[in-house]
Amino acid sequence: MSGESTYNPSNGVSKWLDSRLPILRLAHDSFVDYPTPKNLNYWWTFGGILSFCLVTQIITGIILAMHYTPHVDFAFNSVEHIMRDVNYGWMLRYIHANGASMFFIAVYIHMFRGMYYGSYKAPREVLWILGVIIYILMMAAAFMGYVLPWGQMSLWGATVITNLFGAIPLVGENIAIWLWGGFSVDNPTLNRFFSLHYLIPFLIAGVVVLHIWALHVPGNNNPVGISVKGKQDTVPFHPYYTVKDGFALTLFLILFSYFIFFAPNVLGHADNYIPANPLVTPAHIVPEWYLLPFYAILRAVPDKLGGVVLMFGAIFVMFLLPWLDTSKVRSARYRPLFRQFYVLFILDCLLLGYLGAQPAEGVYIVLARVGTVYYFAHFLLILPILGLVEKPKEVPESISESVLPAAPQAAE
Ligand code: HEM
Repeated sequence: MSGESTYNPSNGVSKWLDSRLPILRLAHDSFVDYPTPKNLNYWWTFGGILSFCLVTQIITGIILAMHYTPHVDFAFNSVEHIMRDVNYGWMLRYIHANGASMFFIAVYIHMFRGMYYGSYKAPREVLWILGVIIYILMMAAAFMGYVLPWGQMSLWGATVITNLFGAIPLVGENIAIWLWGGFSVDNPTLNRFFSLHYLIPFLIAGVVVLHIWALHVPGNNNPVGISVKGKQDTVPFHPYYTVKDGFALTLFLILFSYFIFFAPNVLGHADNYIPANPLVTPAHIVPEWYLLPFYAILRAVPDKLGGVVLMFGAIFVMFLLPWLDTSKVRSARYRPLFRQFYVLFILDCLLLGYLGAQPAEGVYIVLARVGTVYYFAHFLLILPILGLVEKPKEVPESISESVLPAAPQAAE
C-alpha cells in the first residue's frame, strides 16, 4: 500500500542509522508520508485516541505499581495511601481508573465504526481478528485491575467470574481451585492477578503493532468502502491526519478531564470503597459498565454452563464476522436495510448493558433473554441473510468521485 519509500535521510547520522536499522524510514513511511484515503471522517480518529489511551494506562499503571502492595492485608490501605499521601497520587489513580472507562468508550466507538463501514471485510479480516484479540485482552486486564483495590466489588466480582469455570463438566472445580491458588479468591489470587494485570497491557501493545501492520498492508478502509485506486484518492498522513487526530484527541481529553476532576467516581461502584470482606456478600454484584452486556447474557440463561458458553460465545462470534456478513458492498452508506438492523443491534447492546446492572429477576430476565437471542440472531441469521437478499444502492466509481461532485457541464 505504501509503495516506494519516500524517506530521505537529511543528515549524516540518520544516513548512518538508515543503512543499519531503517527504523526512521519505517516511522516516516508509516506515519508521515503514509498515503491515507482523503475522505476519512472523525470516526477514523479513534485508532489514534486508543493508542493514546494505551500509553496513558501503561505510564500511570507503572507509577501506581510503585506504591501499591498486592497483599490482602495491605492492598486496600495502599490504595488509600496513594490517594492521600503520594504526591498527585489521587490524580494518577483517577486517570488510571477513569482511563479504563475512556479506553472502552473509544474501543466501542472504534469497533462500531468498523461494523458500520464494513472494515472487517476482505482484505482486512486479519486486522479485524487482531482487534478482537486486543478487545479480549482489554477485558481481561480491566477485570483483573478491578480486583486490585481489594474492595467489596473486587473480591465478589472476582468470586463470581472465577466461579464460572466451576461450571465446566468434570474438571471445572479443579480449574477454579487452580486459578484461585487455594479454595477461594484470596491472597494468591490477588498476587497473580496483579502480575497478569501488569503483563497484559504489554501484550496488548505487541498486538497493536501487528494490528497497525495488518492495517498498512491493505491500507485504510474509508466511509464509502471503495478501495483506493490511485494517488488522486489519498493524502499524506502528515499533516492532514496528524492535525485531525490531534484535534479529536483534544476534545476527547476534555471529556476525560471532566471525569477525572469533577466526577471521578461516577463510573465506579461505591461498594469498592468498603474493604473486601469474605463474610459479607454485597446485595448486588455488578461488574464495570463496559462488561455489563456480557454479564446480562450470562445471567439470562437458567443453566450455569449454558450461560458461560453463551457469554464467551458472544465474544467469539465476533471472530467470524468477516465471513458471516456476505454482502459484496462494504459501507453501510449504500446498504439501507443493513443500516436499520445496525441501529437495532446497537439498541440491543445498550439494552443488554442496562439489564446487566439490574437484579437478575422478573421482567429483567425476560428482556435479557430476548436481547440475548437477538444478539446472536444479528450475527448468525440477519447478516448472512441480508448479504443474500439486500439490494444495495449504487456505489460510486471511486473515492474521488464520491468526494467531489462531477463538474457541472458548461451550457451550450
Ligand atoms: C488498544 C486498542 C486498539 C488500538 C490502539 C487500535 C488502533 C488502530 C489504529 C491506529 C487504526 C487506524 C486508524 C483508525 O482506523 O481509527 C485502527 C484501525 C482499525 N481497527 Fe483498531 N485499534 C484497537 C482496537 C481495535 C479493536 C478492539 C477492533 C475490533 C474488534 C479494531 C478494529 C480495527 C479495524 C477493522 C480497523 C481498520 C479501520 C479502517 O481502516 O476502516 N481495533 N486501529
